[in-house]
Amino acid sequence: KNIAIIAGGNSSEYEVSIKSGKNIYAEVDETKYNKYLVILRGRDWHVEIGEEKYPVDRNDFSFTRNGEKILFDFAYITIHGVPGENGLLQGYLDMMGVPYGGCNVLASALTFDKHTCSTYLNSYGVNVADSVMLSRGMEYDVNEIINEVGLPCFVKPNAEGSSFGVTKVKEAAQLEEALKKAFALCREVLVETFIDGTELTCGVVKAGDMDITMPIAEVIPKNEFFDFEAKYNPTKSDEIIPARISPELTKRIKTLSSMIYDILRCEGIVRVDYIVREDEIFMLEVNTTPGMTSNSFVPKMVRAMGGTLREVLTKIIDNKLN
Ligand code: DAL
Ligand code: MG
Repeated sequence: KNIAIIAGGNSSEYEVSIKSGKNIYAEVDETKYNKYLVILRGRDWHVEIGEEKYPVDRNDFSFTRNGEKILFDFAYITIHGVPGENGLLQGYLDMMGVPYGGCNVLASALTFDKHTCSTYLNSYGVNVADSVMLSRGMEYDVNEIINEVGLPCFVKPNAEGSSFGVTKVKEAAQLEEALKKAFALCREVLVETFIDGTELTCGVVKAGDMDITMPIAEVIPKNEFFDFEAKYNPTKSDEIIPARISPELTKRIKTLSSMIYDILRCEGIVRVDYIVREDEIFMLEVNTTPGMTSNSFVPKMVRAMGGTLREVLTKIIDNKLN
């Protein structure tokens, strides 16, 4: 069977995605499948084999090499952001009849819109931080926003990842600049109450008979918050797996993560981020194509539980192919 590992994409997370893709590519079992790295940026879709590049035929999701047409039987998406994390690529693959290893169109679209996801999960009783939503062109009053969410607060593009465009605002005077930065990346911006607590994240993977809630990771950024640099430079944050929290809290977060996964009808590997203040758990966001670079959480969580990405990927692939 021909497996496409799809990386790249059109967002600021392009480079991160290439690293995730190469890491997943290395872990797909070559003794069981023919694997190909497919890189996509805008209308340029191609297969990379060493130094060689072959254009992808979007009409049937195939490519031709030495006169032989190779059709993909399965896709594993490692694109963070548009179009791999918001349902677009999932929709394309659905229409092509190509199974894939992650969340479907609805779960992807819903979770990629941070505010829609928080509001939706909150209706199931999941606790989230207070926030104010702003849309490009909408009139707003900085003081009213601050009254609503307090200081410090976080300003985030509503649909981005890896903390691109995110600012921790400590004084009212910084808010305008922070909004500008976030609006440059997204037409919707979320201003969220800062929760002074511990940042935790939990991976969940389900496929066929596999149902695993991974060890929880604790994040200790050395920067002001877990920003882009802290996320990808190993010296800029400490990550502790398993998190130094009580067994009760561990159990609550694991149960909640698995429940969120089911509510959203997720598939494959998903990572849910939280802030915990004393005993109160705040859900931050759900990542349906979590980072898979060697410095990312999910690969570390899988190692911490004594498993391998290779086994997990085989289960995910075989669940759809068999
Ligand atoms: N958006 C990054 C890749 C993550 O959530 O892991
Ligand atoms: Mg994210």
